[in-house]
Amino acid sequence: MNSTSHTDSHRDSQPRPANALLSTSRFGGDYNPEQWESQVWDEDVRLMHQAGVNLATVGVFSWSRLEPRPGQYEFSWLDDVLDRLHAGGVDVLLATATASPPAWFTRSYPQSLPVTAEGVRLGFGSRQHYSPSSAAYREHALRLVEQIAARYGQHPAVVGWHVNNEYGCHVMRSYDDESAAAFRRWLSVKYSTIEQLNHAWGTDFWSQRYDSFDEVDVPRAMPSFPNPTQLLDFDRFSSDAMLALYRAEVEVLRRHTPTMPVTTNFMGFFPGADYWQWAPHLDVISDDAYPDPADPESYVGAAAQRDLMRSLGEGRPWLLMESATTAVQWRTVNASKPAGMYRSEQLTAVARGADGVLHFQWRQSKAGAEKFHAAMLPHAGTDTRVFREVCALGAELAELAPRVLGADVSARAAIIVDWDSWRAVGQPANPTHTDYHANLLAWYRPFLRRGITVDFCPVRADLSNYDIVVAPMLHVVSQEDLEHLDTYARSGGHLVVTHQSAILDRDLHVWLNGYLGPLQQTLGIRLEEWTALGALASGQQPTGVATKLVGPFAGQAYLWQDVVAVIDAHTEVLSTFADGFAAGRPALTRRSTGTGAAWYVSTLPDEAVLDALIERWSTEADVKTLLQRPTSGVEAVERGDLLIVVNRTAERVQAALAEGVVDLAPFEVRIEERRSTGASSH
Ligand code: GLA
Repeated sequence: MNSTSHTDSHRDSQPRPANALLSTSRFGGDYNPEQWESQVWDEDVRLMHQAGVNLATVGVFSWSRLEPRPGQYEFSWLDDVLDRLHAGGVDVLLATATASPPAWFTRSYPQSLPVTAEGVRLGFGSRQHYSPSSAAYREHALRLVEQIAARYGQHPAVVGWHVNNEYGCHVMRSYDDESAAAFRRWLSVKYSTIEQLNHAWGTDFWSQRYDSFDEVDVPRAMPSFPNPTQLLDFDRFSSDAMLALYRAEVEVLRRHTPTMPVTTNFMGFFPGADYWQWAPHLDVISDDAYPDPADPESYVGAAAQRDLMRSLGEGRPWLLMESATTAVQWRTVNASKPAGMYRSEQLTAVARGADGVLHFQWRQSKAGAEKFHAAMLPHAGTDTRVFREVCALGAELAELAPRVLGADVSARAAIIVDWDSWRAVGQPANPTHTDYHANLLAWYRPFLRRGITVDFCPVRADLSNYDIVVAPMLHVVSQEDLEHLDTYARSGGHLVVTHQSAILDRDLHVWLNGYLGPLQQTLGIRLEEWTALGALASGQQPTGVATKLVGPFAGQAYLWQDVVAVIDAHTEVLSTFADGFAAGRPALTRRSTGTGAAWYVSTLPDEAVLDALIERWSTEADVKTLLQRPTSGVEAVERGDLLIVVNRTAERVQAALAEGVVDLAPFEVRIEERRSTGASSH
């Protein structure tokens, strides 16, 4: 992806700071020296050197050590740590330490604690126990950031700022009184008059009219279905409130260190923050990814997550900020990674555009809630499989660096991700409960099976960079969004729109007279009605009844049937429902428009049909497939001059590459130079 500009939101500084952070290939992890006696620190630096660590994320949860009493700062220990790391050749991504306020703060400002929709005020004793709208939290956090920036901005070890940590991970929305007041202010800016809010929210329904902004509240637990637009606006507000906090920290950091790169760690496909809005405010996109080793399908979500990170940075290299060497501790059952899995997983991050592979955390904790979470240096020490695998990967990445650092990953296909649509389909009182992310992966997977690299993009991205654009369940769209999609198809693109798309506008009002708005003309169809066949939950197969498709694309399908009416003589019907509510109606249509084509898929086809569709689309749009036949469990990606093929399974797998069929051992990674004949299999 080249020069798309995802949002028009304006960045926090004019020039993007010189990127010292990714000037070299990074290997390392979160380092929490405050959990250990200082005698351990020298050993840490020595072993980091042995493992090839060149970047440590320091101080993420150290506020109570840095400011043990209000306004009294204790930095000498951190000075010592940074000096030792620097002397040992380890650079530092220094945290602003604001993710977990100290006990004295919470005790003095109990109103800063977050509140759930049910009115439960969450307590101290874990982390992220603050409302993003708390004035006291903001004031104290920024005071700390000011101190840290002033003291360490020029420290030779520091190559970047790590702001807060995983915004919204535990508290996506807070329903406290300060949040309610901030929500009212946000609404009054958005709507200007209460009449406009009444119109947007459709408050004549169930007697919900407001006479002034003072009457409006956050959507607390209520007797029945909440007002949908109120819910959506509260989700938008909650993302904005966290983003405002992030930007307030960045503003302090920029004042002290105008050219120091700034990042905060994203969490992949995270519903609570609209990362298209956030991304322009990060100098380096970074991500935390923990695919479940027990789930053989988790590699699909991980691949998509990595592609999302590259896309958020508009193609720039990104940083895998956190990952696990083996088991985590936060699932119900926490499987460890068999030998080889860790390496194959980490190398897919590099293949998909990461210029750094970091972990949570360097040394496994002895106490606290994460004592059973994996680390680079495990409880059992250096004479362990995990530490040996870590050292081997550190060495391998250093060797690989000159061949991948800064190299592009090119993608000719894109899948649209839209946070409003995600939020809307997740609301109660919908025709079915299909998880937006699970559905997204159902459409991503067939591309992965053919080795077609996919970018993700917002609906208003510059789509002319792509030969195929899929809009899966793009439920919420404006008139302008739909015109943008129409222009893309007419100008030579291959647009694929799936069921439950273009049903609502951005206020969640229905597109009347057959849904789809202006896309009716693009697609040459309208929708009379529909039926839900089942639901789709994360990591599950679709529930409910299957339906049969007949025609050139025959097979089974799930989740949904639209009653499609063809309204244009140029609309071809390529598949029809053989049974059920919409029997005899089109399941798959295609209409040539301008120099391109617009497809509509009114159900979720099974794997064989999806594979056949990918074959058709990639041929029609002339998009290269790195895998010559659909293959599960294998990732094939080109980055720069390298072709990287990874077996993500514990079985032998055959991959049909353009050069011939290769046999891949369990977790094997094959890295091949494209411009030379030499292939190296690791
Ligand atoms: C998140 C956090 C880390 C740690 C890990 C454990 O990613 O950012 O501090 O808790 O989870 O998986």
